[in-house]
Amino acid sequence: MEDAVWLREMLSQELEVRPPRSLKAEQKFLAGNIATLRQDGQIIGYTDIRNYGKTAEITTFIIDPKYRGKGNAKKLVLMAIEMSPQKIILSCTKNPKMANVLEDCGFEITHWPGLKEYILLTINTIKRIFSMLFRLEFKRLWIQAKGFMKYKIYKLER
Ligand SMILES: CC(C)(COP(=O)(O)OP(=O)(O)OC[C@H]1O[C@@H](n2cnc3c(N)ncnc32)[C@H](O)[C@@H]1OP(=O)(O)O)[C@@H](O)C(=O)NCCC(=O)NCCS
Repeated sequence: MEDAVWLREMLSQELEVRPPRSLKAEQKFLAGNIATLRQDGQIIGYTDIRNYGKTAEITTFIIDPKYRGKGNAKKLVLMAIEMSPQKIILSCTKNPKMANVLEDCGFEITHWPGLKEYILLTINTIKRIFSMLFRLEFKRLWIQAKGFMKYKIYKLER
């Protein structure tokens, strides 16, 4: 339960990621395909790892503000890579810090992730827009939509 409370708090604060859901729904996410970073047992970082068959996507990536600027994002990206058996890993971001971390971990910008991947990424973007509209999260929607053209797809091929 503690992890779900933390995750909801982080998602509420950070407007560049998906909106928070109910505690029960966040607990379900935490039991799914995710990676977490901990310090003294306490969760300090979280990411979803989506499985697209031969490709994985690192998404909804958060480091607790108290633990930023210490290399924790890099640790979590490396953990997510290690947890993913897929040859190709994608991550979309317009956050310059996240972009630096991805590049540091060996990711490169790609303009074409593949047809299936492109369709799935587009479907997920549409789903996220509806999720924000449904939850009346207009500020979050505005923050994500206004920089839409700045989003880049990063790819790691092993
Ligand atoms: C983006 C985000 C994940 C970065 O997390 P972070 O823990 O600060 O990232 P890191 O510490 O690994 O790297 C950040 C910087 O610290 C530097 N750093 C790495 N190890 C370090 C260390 N031991 N000591 C000090 N600095 C260090 C890195 O070189 C990097 O520097 P840069 O900004 O010049 O590239 C975090 O700001 C966040 O959660 N933001 C909100 C959610 C979000 O926007 N997520 C991305 C959506 S796609």
